[in-house]
Amino acid sequence: MDFTDKVVIVTGAGRGIGFAYAKSFALAGAQVVIAEYDEQTAAQASEKIKALGKKAIAIKCDVSSETDVNQTVSAVIKEFGKVDVLVNNAQRVPDIRPAEETTPEDMKMAWSTGAFGTYLFTHACLPHMKAKKFGRIINVASMSGVVGDPGNSAYGSNKEAIRGYTRQIANEYGEYNITCNVICPDAMTELAKDFFAANPDTFKDAKLQIPLRRFGDPEKDIAPVVMFLASPGGNYITGQTIGVDGGMTEAR
Ligand SMILES: NC(=O)c1ccc[n+]([C@@H]2O[C@H](COP(=O)([O-])OP(=O)(O)OC[C@H]3O[C@@H](n4cnc5c(N)ncnc54)[C@H](O)[C@@H]3O)[C@@H](O)[C@H]2O)c1
Repeated sequence: MDFTDKVVIVTGAGRGIGFAYAKSFALAGAQVVIAEYDEQTAAQASEKIKALGKKAIAIKCDVSSETDVNQTVSAVIKEFGKVDVLVNNAQRVPDIRPAEETTPEDMKMAWSTGAFGTYLFTHACLPHMKAKKFGRIINVASMSGVVGDPGNSAYGSNKEAIRGYTRQIANEYGEYNITCNVICPDAMTELAKDFFAANPDTFKDAKLQIPLRRFGDPEKDIAPVVMFLASPGGNYITGQTIGVDGGMTEAR
């Protein structure tokens, strides 16, 4: 896949699957923008990509801050004149607990960094994509939300809001050649490692629930699907949810 001359924003690309998206798009020729609130990992991520001779910049941005998001998109437009691809990947994940013990802070953490951040970035990019009659937006949800995993009411409900918002954008902006899709990934990342360290009993079970019996690899298994949705091959796909999870969502 060739993304030469394409401008790609990936939120939360300092580490994990977000970094895999950023690196993969850059290796395919894109100018990548890492929008990440952890200044240190953001800088390290862009340095790693530049060390490969590819194009990346890091912008410190909290996706839950309207000011940060608008400033980030303005800076990208000023520097590069457009946004071709937006990957709304950033997310903070509250601890697992029953719905009745889920706190307002859990809800705010999940929704502000997930659904609200997805809204803010999409909202800021849409006028620029509309003007160019081109835009590829890929949002990130989770199997947890799709199946209503117990203990995940804050995170899961927020991820399902992202799927609903995806369909809205697909319907309202298709006429401007803007597609909007959502993937539900499953990969062994820092986030997943933290989760399994806190919930060791779930580790064995988790693998058994994946028909392919392994966790996904961010670069080899997840990033290529996001790139496909942003490539000409994905031109006629919009409003869809794609499980990139070894078959786990459908199998449950
Ligand atoms: N890892 C999995 O198996 C899995 C499964 C389902 C869904 N997901 C989703 O995939 C995405 C990436 O997951 P991951 O495992 O790489 O997570 P991760 O925690 O390793 O990475 C998330 C990144 O987002 C950044 N971030 C968090 N809040 C932010 C904010 N407010 N502003 C800017 N950046 C922020 C973090 O600093 C981090 O770099 C998330 O949306 C997650 O919910 C992951």
